[in-house]
Amino acid sequence: AIDPNFDQNREQVSEEKLDELRSSENDAFGDGVAVWGPVEPPEKLGIHGTHVAVDYDICLADGACLENCPVDVFTWVDTPDHPVSETKVEPTNEDQCIDCMLCVDICPVDAIDVDPG
Ligand code: SF4
Ligand code: F3S
Repeated sequence: AIDPNFDQNREQVSEEKLDELRSSENDAFGDGVAVWGPVEPPEKLGIHGTHVAVDYDICLADGACLENCPVDVFTWVDTPDHPVSETKVEPTNEDQCIDCMLCVDICPVDAIDVDPG
């Protein structure tokens, strides 16, 4: 399961490093969403998002979060050659999250943490 204390236990990937990743082949590193390392593509992709956080190294692209989120927080991104799945959900619109916790409850592998704080 995702570490709910990831923001204390991990380091946020720098903007410079993110720019590098965005210009590389995969599109898993969208604009605006923080990434918490370690990140070593394609095997290790880190945790994406802060208020709504998805552990990319746990997500297996079930899709229930994206299909059921009432405010469409998530979008699909390609993660070619990741050992668990070749697509993941990016919490692109995490600022719209209404803290309903549906995604947290529905994910079969507990890849999502939502912190209403
Ligand atoms: Fe969407 Fe609810 Fe999850 Fe927020 S907690 S991302 S509103 S499903
Ligand atoms: Fe991934 Fe879980 Fe959603 S496996 S696609 S975060 S329901």
